[in-house]
Amino acid sequence: MPGNLLKVSEENPVKILLTGVNGQVGHALQANLDADRRLDVLHDVIALSRAELDLSDADAIRRVVRESKPDLVVNPAAYTAVDKAESEPELAYAINATAPQVLAEEAARIGAALIHFSTDYVYDGNKQGKYVESDAVNPISVYGRSKLAGEEAIRAVGLPHLILRTSWVYGAYGKNFLKTILRLAAERDSLRIVADQWGAPTSSESIADAVTKLIKAWNIENAAQTGVYHFTNAGETTWHGFATAIVAEYEALQGEKNWPALKAKQTDIQPIGTADYPTPAVRPENSRLDNSKLKSTFDIALPDWRAALRQVMRQLP
Ligand SMILES: NC(=O)c1ccc[n+]([C@@H]2O[C@H](COP(=O)([O-])OP(=O)(O)OC[C@H]3O[C@@H](n4cnc5c(N)ncnc54)[C@H](OP(=O)(O)O)[C@@H]3O)[C@@H](O)[C@H]2O)c1
Repeated sequence: MPGNLLKVSEENPVKILLTGVNGQVGHALQANLDADRRLDVLHDVIALSRAELDLSDADAIRRVVRESKPDLVVNPAAYTAVDKAESEPELAYAINATAPQVLAEEAARIGAALIHFSTDYVYDGNKQGKYVESDAVNPISVYGRSKLAGEEAIRAVGLPHLILRTSWVYGAYGKNFLKTILRLAAERDSLRIVADQWGAPTSSESIADAVTKLIKAWNIENAAQTGVYHFTNAGETTWHGFATAIVAEYEALQGEKNWPALKAKQTDIQPIGTADYPTPAVRPENSRLDNSKLKSTFDIALPDWRAALRQVMRQLP
């Protein structure tokens, strides 16, 4: 296994096993790695959907990794239904904790490396200011605890790995907050959106771009690079600020795109408190993540969330 994943010959292309290709991040990553050949080097991508690899089946994971023998496993697949996880903890743990452990064990067996995704929900949100990677974790939901268990399992295996903690993921592809706001704003005269949870909306496209750069920049033989990185778009807002920006961007592009008018305008989006919108899972009030470790280690930074939003909106049909 070469130090840098990309120092390979034509006869020996980098083989990347990618999970969850029907998810937001998996889909964007496949588009980057596969179609665009963005790595500028010969590589094969084995891209698998849930139907092709069910991560709740540990034997299937072992079989797929043993047969495909990748140099790098990239695992964006996850149980992401935050509220449903409260009543399905076993399934959430199987996919978010056991599956990453088995992927890590199998990757370690064949000398491969692992890129895994985690979440701002490993924190309780009580810190004033942005979280850094060395801050104490204290998840307050089943989802957050299951994702943290996945991180810990990977660390315990001890292979070269990057765990990328991202937040508030949305994109042109998949079901997400952006799509929900556009649908509701088309149907209703006004919306009530939570204004006391802070974080960074992060587009799956920004994540995929940055991961592509990361694969080029990462020297897997440098043990100091292994570990956890915060991985979000820059800047911060609330869900209310995000919803308002979505409607504002829609209005800005409406003429050019020939989109129908929304019923709810920017000014029709009312701020409410978390207490006014009870959900089965508790969410952290403060999800703001400091990304400077990513910048100082790899010289990679994701763009500002507002610029990323504009780019995603432009891609919408
Ligand atoms: N979404 C967010 O707001 C958010 C926030 C912070 C961190 N993250 C993390 O970022 C990563 C990417 O999230 P995302 O937004 O791309 O999630 P997503 O859109 O919900 O996609 C998750 C993917 O995982 C797949 N999956 C679920 N159960 C599976 C199983 N048993 N076997 C195989 N695949 C399975 C899903 O398959 P189907 O398509 O068949 O359902 C889906 O394609 C995850 O690690 C997530 O925890 C996400």
